[in-house]
Amino acid sequence: MTTILAIESSCDETSAAVISNGQLRSNIVATQLIHQKYGGVVPELASRAHQQHILPVVEKALKDAKVSKKDLNAIAFTRGPGLLGALLVGASFAKALALGLDIPLIEVNHMQAHVLAHFIEEPRPAFPFLCLTVSGGHTQIVLVRGPLEMEVIGETQDDAVGEAFDKTAKLLNLPYPGGPLVDQYAQKGNPSAFPFPISEMPGLHFSFSGIKTSVLYFLQSRTKEDPRFVEENIADICAGVQHTLIKMLLQKLRKAAKQTGISDIAIAGGVSANSGLRKSLREMGEKDGWNVYIPRFEYCTDNAGMIAMAAHFKFQQKQFAEQTISPMPRMAI
Ligand code: KG4
Ligand code: ZN
Repeated sequence: MTTILAIESSCDETSAAVISNGQLRSNIVATQLIHQKYGGVVPELASRAHQQHILPVVEKALKDAKVSKKDLNAIAFTRGPGLLGALLVGASFAKALALGLDIPLIEVNHMQAHVLAHFIEEPRPAFPFLCLTVSGGHTQIVLVRGPLEMEVIGETQDDAVGEAFDKTAKLLNLPYPGGPLVDQYAQKGNPSAFPFPISEMPGLHFSFSGIKTSVLYFLQSRTKEDPRFVEENIADICAGVQHTLIKMLLQKLRKAAKQTGISDIAIAGGVSANSGLRKSLREMGEKDGWNVYIPRFEYCTDNAGMIAMAAHFKFQQKQFAEQTISPMPRMAI
């Protein structure tokens, strides 16, 4: 039996997971709440919080999996992309543990891992498939040919869609991270009450910086007329923005499916937890005859379970890392 401990520390979740022969046995996530009062992730605070959480999180992951350190065959960690200081905590911890136990080290690309979260449980997509990876830092359409064979065929040229959600929330005075709150309000609102413009981009690329500006100007002009405008219309505003963001995502996904002739379509990353996106994707899938794959909520946002899954595939191919390896804040798939 091959048992791997995986560590994720790229942003503001400290997470550890244990996987044996491709079967996830534990997945512990400690979310750093300290960033809420600053309205965004503060890198230095994130690094400190990772230092505090990493040992208890790893110990809990081992305990829940009923595994002791001597049962481990490899240690995996997120190499990038992410915040350098945050990545360093996970990388250093993983290296030290692998060195102490004299077992191999496995580096994992966080964006590949988001895609591979689909292999944690059934239904698992068949290769090749397309994955729309939508998070706080990325928006990509990935052509997945094999577990470790991926190509980005479209991506955002500026902000990530998660950022568009979070920035909209900030303009509406909602706490960070605002994406889930925009989702909650949108469920009670009318998506056509306030229309927002779609940014047209060439090919399979996206742009999400324009919508933030349109929301800002829209709110400025409406609150000038009525200071209670946001308070009274928050559900409709959220529904309008969310509807526009989803439309931009799905328009390009449909184009990618047509261009590649692929009809196995998956979504991954934090924003794939969005209820509107999940619903619209299922509807589009039914219309277009796609097999749609949507992960469970807990595997959408950052977690070490997905890092463990990626590490499982890398272990099979004996893709091990050197002890001299260092994190890569910017790391292509
Ligand atoms: O993948 P993730 O956990 O971290 C990154 O790697 O960035 O994604 C975090 C992003 C944040 O922007 C958060 O607001 C967004 O995912 N998010 C959502 C929802 N849940 C998380 N956005 C919209 N609706 C949601 N339900
Ligand atoms: Zn992520």
